[in-house]
Amino acid sequence: MDDWLATNRANWDERAAPHAASPDYAVERFRSDPAFLSDVVRFDLPRLGDVAGRRGVHLQCHIGTDTLSLHRLGARMTGLDFSPAALAQARALCGDAVTFVEASVYDALDVLPAGAFDLVFTGIGALCWLPDIAGWAAVVAGLLAPGGRLFLREGHPMLWASDERPDGSVVVDFPYFERPEPTVWDEGGTYVETDHVFATTVSVEWNHGLGEIVSALLAQGLTLTMLTEHDSIPWNGLPGLMEPVGAGEYALRERRERLPLSYTLQAVKP
Ligand SMILES: C[S@@+](CC[C@H](N)C(=O)[O-])C[C@H]1O[C@@H](n2cnc3c(N)ncnc32)[C@H](O)[C@@H]1O
Repeated sequence: MDDWLATNRANWDERAAPHAASPDYAVERFRSDPAFLSDVVRFDLPRLGDVAGRRGVHLQCHIGTDTLSLHRLGARMTGLDFSPAALAQARALCGDAVTFVEASVYDALDVLPAGAFDLVFTGIGALCWLPDIAGWAAVVAGLLAPGGRLFLREGHPMLWASDERPDGSVVVDFPYFERPEPTVWDEGGTYVETDHVFATTVSVEWNHGLGEIVSALLAQGLTLTMLTEHDSIPWNGLPGLMEPVGAGEYALRERRERLPLSYTLQAVKP
């Protein structure tokens, strides 16, 4: 699909305002409580370590809630996203505390300095919008300073490959491996609570196998330092089969041990 970038950008532009207004992104809580952190960042606090003073870039930062959380932990944050509507919400939330730039991930090195970041943070519904994981890994490696690290928590490729059936079974129904052609979706709605009626319903996604992601990072000379799979994710990814398990996470209601739902990966640039 030639116009994948424009298709997905239009889709994300329409999601930005309803997401900022949704209780699930807790924007009001960020405003009223200066110590508040997103569920996503809080989940990974035991793995994140000390980021105080670090030069961080959040790729695909959306409306800036995780970016602001990292700023509140002391990192000097820049957020990058290709959606001007998402960035308008992010700027309204973060003010001058965070620098935001508008670009596709693949153009990040045109708008940000190479080798200038101690931390590249990304994930939770980020990689599925990118057609080429090798190109993404090259951008990550290009942004990192020597000794800097990638911190990625993402939906597991086995989850992206899965679908639910009314009898409660999970079936493998979508590509696990990266394919040139995307999976095209045409559906209203989004993954947070909102009564917004969407006019822009088409989006296109790609899956990337876990081995493909790790191999792409290794091919860029990064050293893998963590790969932890989790049995929960911070959205209701298989509606009907999942239940909330606290702290914004969802897990399979029955036999959680069946399927990895997300993972946290860290890799360091030597
Ligand atoms: C689900 S959000 C992920 C961010 C974060 N987990 C969150 O929920 O706040 C996906 C973001 O990726 C952005 N995005 C999608 N494709 C992109 C691309 N090629 N370049 C830059 N941003 C992109 C969208 O605009 C959206 O803000």
